[in-house]
Amino acid sequence: MKKIFFFLGKGGVGKSTLSASLAYYLNTKGKRTFWASIDPAHNLCDILSLPSFMGTKQITPNLWVEEVDINAYLKRFLKEIQEKTYHTYRYLQVLNLDKMFNVIKHTPGMEEFACLYALKNIIDQHQDKDYLIIDTPPTGLMLRIFSLPFVTRQWLKELKRWRKAILARRKMVAHIKGESYFPPEVALAENEDKVMENLSAQQRTMQFFASLFTDQEKTVLILVLNPDKLSVLEGKRILDTLKSFGVYIRLVLFNKAGLLPRPKELDLLKDLPQKEIPYMKHTLDQKVFLQLGRMWAEDVCK
Ligand SMILES: Nc1ncnc2c1ncn2[C@@H]1O[C@H](COP(=O)(O)OP(=O)(O)OP(=O)(O)O)[C@@H](O)[C@H]1O
Ligand SMILES: [Mg+2]
Repeated sequence: MKKIFFFLGKGGVGKSTLSASLAYYLNTKGKRTFWASIDPAHNLCDILSLPSFMGTKQITPNLWVEEVDINAYLKRFLKEIQEKTYHTYRYLQVLNLDKMFNVIKHTPGMEEFACLYALKNIIDQHQDKDYLIIDTPPTGLMLRIFSLPFVTRQWLKELKRWRKAILARRKMVAHIKGESYFPPEVALAENEDKVMENLSAQQRTMQFFASLFTDQEKTVLILVLNPDKLSVLEGKRILDTLKSFGVYIRLVLFNKAGLLPRPKELDLLKDLPQKEIPYMKHTLDQKVFLQLGRMWAEDVCK
């Protein structure tokens, strides 16, 4: 996989349209391209004028499309947590695991984790493709997905510190009372502890995403704006939030240009490369997507 593209911006600015323009541009260049939507409100089928579908569809010899079923990923993700929890804490009869699992299920952030989990799967499965294009949900959810690896990394660091302290205490107790004081499933050493193993596995996944999102060679973030003040101001907030994690926007696409005058707020983004995409009066079909793609995609695909 050479590059992964994400389209960000306020609802309705043209993220899906411009992801289509890139998909058709890469298709005519003969690049093997996987184009997926992780927006729970899918509409790639509408863009392609296809009947609604879930899962993957090959639409040309080099282009595959997937409407990612985030709910299915959420279920799989929760099932994995459930299995790991039972496996790790089987011996703790005092703990009501079913009750605990119900709490986990309704914990804020689960949808974002499911999106990351889906993304990891897509990336792992499509290493053989040249390019991945990810059509994203509107700003709020997308920013939470992007910030998750950075925030979770901090959490995991703290949790590992606490876990180390617990293991050290256990060792002290075992030293005084004798090793047989604990049942054999209770680990005393870090390298035998399943909780530590799970935390380290989570840490590797979060590190994978933090590295991917900050890798400007591989990850190309495209901010889509319209000639309206609100989309530009929201774009600026996206830019600033991502910057605080060390994640940078590569290109601003000023879409539907000509529909209304250029808002003066665009100057707030003057340090970034910008391209204008005109408002198209005709029906947007594959020919028009390709035409739009040719206006902007060449540089960012290098
Ligand atoms: N350059 C353009 N010229 C004309 N119409 C456009 C252009 N770009 C997008 N549109 C139209 O604007 C509408 C919104 O576009 P699109 O669905 O791509 O936005 P989005 O950012 O993906 O929206 P959402 O946040 O809801 O997913 C659609 O009707 C689309 O056809
Ligand atoms: Mg969309």
